[in-house]
Amino acid sequence: MKAVDDFARLKQEGRKISMVTAYDAWSARLVARSNVDAILVGDSAAMVMHGHPTTLAATVELMALHTHAVASAAAGKFVIADLPFLSFRKGIPAAMEAVRALVTCGAQSVKLEGVAGHEDVIRHIVESGIPVMGHIGLTPQSVNRFGGFRVQGKTEAAAAVLIGQARLLESLGCFSIVLECVPAELAARITSELAVPTIGIGAGLGTDGQILVLHDVWGVDMSHAPRFVRRYIDGERVLTDALNEFNADVKALTFPAAAETYS
Ligand code: KIV
Repeated sequence: MKAVDDFARLKQEGRKISMVTAYDAWSARLVARSNVDAILVGDSAAMVMHGHPTTLAATVELMALHTHAVASAAAGKFVIADLPFLSFRKGIPAAMEAVRALVTCGAQSVKLEGVAGHEDVIRHIVESGIPVMGHIGLTPQSVNRFGGFRVQGKTEAAAAVLIGQARLLESLGCFSIVLECVPAELAARITSELAVPTIGIGAGLGTDGQILVLHDVWGVDMSHAPRFVRRYIDGERVLTDALNEFNADVKALTFPAAAETYS
């Protein structure tokens, strides 16, 4: 997927959209070689790459660094970058500066969480010619308001709020909306009501696409396993085995071999 219009086209054609996160050049290069449709430089970088307990530590500078690394290696893939915590809550000029930083580092689009109170910012970014992806449900930047990483939209009232948010994001011009950790039935209902595609994470099969954190797909962080994660390889074992083999070869004097040595 190369362009923002491909998202709408895939929804119209009834074809699912696959997305993963990436934070660095080498993994973005591998994603670029795969059939996965698009890449999110998620603010989950703060957790996955930098060991923070939440995404709140992500800054515009950090996101710009990761966005540059990913965009430089993600040829042919549509790259979306997350606007980090509070960067779009300080008025339009500050938000536009954050958007400028990410787009000039190679992002083709930005994603931001929630909608209430920053409708004007979303409209302004869209009118500036930059595609915006919305994100509702479990929006991790609001973890302290939710009291933890909890499924959202479980009551009728909470579901109605999410439906309203989704409609509002669509009316503001978002090209797609991430639905994170919401009941499958609600996600399917939102998806059927919107013309723009929804991308689910922990939102069941009824969304227009799915996104997972790359390190979860590759099974390289076995410490934390939300229910919605599917690990496609035991990357932690594969990578640790490689290190142990290297260690054993060093100690057994079988590395380096003659072919790996300069004469
Ligand atoms: O930062 C992130 O990784 C995300 C996705 C999981 C949707 O926002």
